[in-house]
Amino acid sequence: MLTKAPRGTRDILPSEVEQWQFFEEKVRELCRLFGYAEIRTPVFEHTELFLRSVGEVTDIVAKEMYTFTDRGDRSLTLRPEGTAPVARAFLEHKLYGEAQPLKVYYIGPMFRYDRPQAGRYRQFHQFGVEVFGTKEPSLDAEVITLSLYVFRALGLEEFTLQLNSVGCPHCRDEYRSCLQEELHEKLNRFCPDCAGRFHKNPLRILDCKQESCQELTANVSLLLDKLCGDCAEHFAAVRESLDVLGEPYVVNPRLVRGLDYYSKTAFEIVSPVLGAQSSLGGGGRYDHLLATIGGPDVPGIGFGIGIERVLLARAAAGSSLPESKLTDVFVVTAGNVSAAEALRVVIALRRQGVAADKDYLGRSLKAQLKFADKKQARYVVILGDEEMKRDQAVLRDMQTGGQEDVALTELASMLAGLVKGAKR
Ligand code: HAM
Repeated sequence: MLTKAPRGTRDILPSEVEQWQFFEEKVRELCRLFGYAEIRTPVFEHTELFLRSVGEVTDIVAKEMYTFTDRGDRSLTLRPEGTAPVARAFLEHKLYGEAQPLKVYYIGPMFRYDRPQAGRYRQFHQFGVEVFGTKEPSLDAEVITLSLYVFRALGLEEFTLQLNSVGCPHCRDEYRSCLQEELHEKLNRFCPDCAGRFHKNPLRILDCKQESCQELTANVSLLLDKLCGDCAEHFAAVRESLDVLGEPYVVNPRLVRGLDYYSKTAFEIVSPVLGAQSSLGGGGRYDHLLATIGGPDVPGIGFGIGIERVLLARAAAGSSLPESKLTDVFVVTAGNVSAAEALRVVIALRRQGVAADKDYLGRSLKAQLKFADKKQARYVVILGDEEMKRDQAVLRDMQTGGQEDVALTELASMLAGLVKGAKR
């Protein structure tokens, strides 16, 4: 147990971390282009926040939260998602007083106690965005487009955007009763989960993955056909905006999403290469969320993308990374030159912005050179007794094999120039 991470969690090892950094660099750059500023909220919040926002009858709240009582007897929960915490911060700091819309993004760990499997973890990471302050449908298209640009920037081309409208409390409540009426006589034929959902959250029955449940709901009326005028108009305008942008989508009238705060636009991006956990990301509008948690009536919209799933999809697509090296220059010693002398040269190189390293295991000259090769150092500096006497070192270009004597005083600035030139 001491040597195993808790079930459903993963270490991100040095060999994988470049993938994560690549993801983060790409999304930060896109957020800058789209006008989103970063926000960082705590990883735990008052439990009540998630009960009120995500909804008590959702799977997340009913079965998946990491909830604990702290030493001050408060009930706290590790955030299972990012929207509610950001909405809480928006209210707490009265960000609705700033110029609207307010556009923010976040990158960080989320926690859900779910059965772990490929692409599903108990601690996972999301990149998400939230925008507050307008109901304008072209904003829905901008938010959706940003999510698609993220996938493309990461080299993913094979995904489908599924789009739906889950209506507003007004038309959804009416539809709920209608759906319950239609399904009532089949109630005993549904899976136990759906039977439980029937009274509390009947819409979720529509996206049950069980084939038998899908058959039972094959011909039911759909909310998309029963939207009120305002919601229907909004949905048409969002579709129109996506058409103007030339972004293809599939309308999926059964897309419900697993969080209660959504209204109107709901969307999900699914990948064919991820198996059961096919959702790369999802989001939607939440025009009533802020009022639900005690704030003013400010509308909002956002999405969350699962970083692990994106990286799995990248791996499946065989996407590689631009080559990057941790070591530009490796300093080796020969003869009686001390390790401290080598360290002095290494530090001088680093001060000039050159990624430099040296041996710390007392290796022989031959082994040091082999190690430099393994580290893929472009240059090797050899400090030998003879050269040191002349205040010089040997500089070897590992790519061409050529070498020359260089004055120690000029080594750092010369290598800084060479390395910069090589990166260009
Ligand atoms: P969500 O659909 O629950 O939405 O999660 C978004 C994404 O997080 C999923 O599509 C998936 O890629 C990833 N994800 C979810 N659970 C796991 C897990 N157990 N392991 C690995 N990845 C997972 C939300 O969380 C909303 N807050 C999104 C949103 C933002 N809506 C509006 N604004």
